[in-house]
Amino acid sequence: STFTALASLAGYLIGSLSFAVIVSRLMRLDDPRTYGSKNPGATNVLRSGNRAAAVLTLALDALKGYVPVVLAAWVAAEHRLSSDATEWALGCVGLAAFLGHLWPVFFRFQGGKGVATAVGVLFGLNPWLGLASLATWLIIAAFFRYSSLASLVAAVFAPFFQLFGWGGGPIALVLVVMAFLLFWRHQGNIRKLIAGTESKLGARAAPPA
Ligand code: G3P
Repeated sequence: STFTALASLAGYLIGSLSFAVIVSRLMRLDDPRTYGSKNPGATNVLRSGNRAAAVLTLALDALKGYVPVVLAAWVAAEHRLSSDATEWALGCVGLAAFLGHLWPVFFRFQGGKGVATAVGVLFGLNPWLGLASLATWLIIAAFFRYSSLASLVAAVFAPFFQLFGWGGGPIALVLVVMAFLLFWRHQGNIRKLIAGTESKLGARAAPPA
């Protein structure tokens, strides 16, 4: 529908706000695309040593997934959309915000890996789904200290939480698509995890040679 198309476009534009780059610029820190993993994301901003910048990046990148979904849910309810149409609309809006983060129109389509934004989308779709996925991330991160590993495991679990908790349909489909893209974006991390060279959560980036 027109509503889904317009809301998805808005979601994509909001998702395109690469907050790792924006926050770093505002706080006069190095561009995260120049150090560590070179990824514009909260994990890499943390490698600058500035915790506040990392937390702010995490919060804003998550909010840009959460807000479009919640706003679309509100509009859908106002217009008494069927629950089926609402699920499709919210799934598309959430996916669009996620795609914006991966391929941001404002940053030459060079975006991040989508973890924080995906978490925000999940919370917007269903807070319990968000909580279950976040808990998965936290447990893996606490045990192994790898942000990437925690993200990969949470991405695998999220569609199963949806499937067994609330059934299939468009939301489950969107979660599978996001998981595939998230894995695809983590190829370098997966290689490093296997090689044992992945950097642990919170380790500072090596100073430039
Ligand atoms: O959230 C992104 C994380 O999974 C990996 O980030 O910077 O370690 O590649 P990074």
